[in-house]
Amino acid sequence: MCGIVGYIGTKRAYPILIKGLKRLEYRGYDSAGVAMIGDNGNLNVYKTKGKVDNLTEYCSDKDVTGCVGIAHTRWATHGEPSARNAHPHYSTSRNLAIIHNGIIENYAGIKAKLQANGVTFKSDTDTEVLVQLVEYIMDKKNLSLLEAVQVALHQVIGAYAIAIVDKRDPYQIIAARKQSPLVVGIGDSEFFLGSDASPIIDYTDKVVYLEDGNIAVIRVKSPNGENEDEGLKILSILGEEQELKVKKVDIDLGQIEKGGYSHFMLKEIFEQPECLQNCMRGRINVEGDNVTLSAMIDYRQQLLGAKRIIIVACGTSWHAGLIGKQLFEQLCRIPCEVEYASEFRYRNPVVNKDDVVIAISQSGETADTLAAIQLAKEQGAFIYGICNAIGSSIPRATDTGTYIHVGPEIGVASTKAFTGQVTVLSMLALCLAKERQTISDELYHSMVKELTLIPEKMEQTLKTNEQIERLAPIFTYAKNCLYLGRGYNYPLALEGALKLKEISYIHAEGYPAAEMKHGPIALIDSEMPVFVIATRDRLYEKVISNIQEVRARGGRVTALVTEGDQQIQKFADHVITLPDTLECFQPLIASIPLQLLAYHIAVCKGKDVDRPRNLAKSVTVE
Ligand code: G6P
Repeated sequence: MCGIVGYIGTKRAYPILIKGLKRLEYRGYDSAGVAMIGDNGNLNVYKTKGKVDNLTEYCSDKDVTGCVGIAHTRWATHGEPSARNAHPHYSTSRNLAIIHNGIIENYAGIKAKLQANGVTFKSDTDTEVLVQLVEYIMDKKNLSLLEAVQVALHQVIGAYAIAIVDKRDPYQIIAARKQSPLVVGIGDSEFFLGSDASPIIDYTDKVVYLEDGNIAVIRVKSPNGENEDEGLKILSILGEEQELKVKKVDIDLGQIEKGGYSHFMLKEIFEQPECLQNCMRGRINVEGDNVTLSAMIDYRQQLLGAKRIIIVACGTSWHAGLIGKQLFEQLCRIPCEVEYASEFRYRNPVVNKDDVVIAISQSGETADTLAAIQLAKEQGAFIYGICNAIGSSIPRATDTGTYIHVGPEIGVASTKAFTGQVTVLSMLALCLAKERQTISDELYHSMVKELTLIPEKMEQTLKTNEQIERLAPIFTYAKNCLYLGRGYNYPLALEGALKLKEISYIHAEGYPAAEMKHGPIALIDSEMPVFVIATRDRLYEKVISNIQEVRARGGRVTALVTEGDQQIQKFADHVITLPDTLECFQPLIASIPLQLLAYHIAVCKGKDVDRPRNLAKSVTVE
């Protein structure tokens, strides 16, 4: 949700900023902008509506000199997407420019006060209010930029990651964070800023993740060496100097490039076998029959003492949570509830001290999930995080957790993170079940073994790609689609429908197959594609009856079936065959054709698969 980049050092800032923006475009792409203090001392701000490519085209004949700059790619909250509302925003004097990710909730009150004091505004954004407030404080109280930022941040309510430059001091960037991520990269006499480490890793692996309430003062030497206080200083909002916690980032550049695929989404779908191997590596032993999670060793008592598990998550991560619920209840006999974090945080839920709250999040930054964690923490629950982005806010806010280790996910529609989350949930459920002795040793070992076979079976499933690519054009006409599944396949039906909606803009609904007759059946006609996950499991015969109900109303059925299935072929229009596995691991396999289906339908419709309209990968506002 909005991407922030910054550079200060001895190199030209512009190419570094643009490259960084492209890496962060997954966070939002309705407008983009840069601000650089040029060689002639001017503070140049350029902004355009739309994607970063529009910005570079616009800048092609502009002064893009300067070794200090900040840049932003936006996901609109306050003010429509337009060049006017794009960041950076100037202050009235044009001495200052700011970029911001987050929401200043009390912006209207501050704006009214500033207007009453003669300040005029050029945009509809909450962000401009902040830069104007900083300038007002600087002028009124005769304070330095740092001092004015400190005062201003005491007045604002909300979430922010900000960076500000002042053309009168071209050797400094001031940045601050509260509830929105911000990383500072430390190079050789140069510094970088990013909403995550991806714009930084080309230049340095040394980073500092700002904590909530941190202000970063980043200074470099002026050419005549006048600037004595070169370096990075982290202060609290009250001005107390904080310890510099420098971390090493470990992201392989290849992981964030497309690697020959036409889209990140396709690359990420195809990476899944390898991702799941990485996810299980070091956790499942070489014999492949035993799982050990370090969290289970360190926090055995808290986890085994769980009277109830509450899963909080959003979007695709919530769907993974629904699969987790079935695993915890079936294997561990622990009651489990799955909550939308955005609802949970506002409905005064009952949370007990012996509850374990599992927060699932790919980005580790989702604002609602973070707030749900906070609430559960205040009520004394033990918090376990399942995240992908290393060092992000959620893993830092939880008591313990397990990273899914699937590598950076760039495509906005989540794919490999979903299967990584389900794999971690499966490993955790198996660990708990073994310790609680709710499954036999024999079943435990055979299940772990089967889990290790999933990457191979995924590899086999990926061979359906060509068949699905051929089928996809048939569905491009559809206005509505229905996805049906039961048991473990029901959350998958929801996930399949979400994938299609997100990237092809076709309305789709996921439904428990038997529940269809209580409503959606009324919608079925020959125009409505129905995708049924009908793998061979406990409910197989029942799902066949549900397919018959669809057929009887003229519906067109595409079924995902287990290899060797003879029955469903007879009455489905199309059949996609999957390798057999245990019922609880079926979603890991069956998610692949559903992801591919959404992908190819969206490509056929000419949609921007990796950057679907209105969406953002990391939702850091509520
Ligand atoms: C956004 C993304 C989804 C994601 C959801 C939750 O809506 O577009 O793909 O599932 O946020 O994000 P998280 O990072 O918490 O898993």
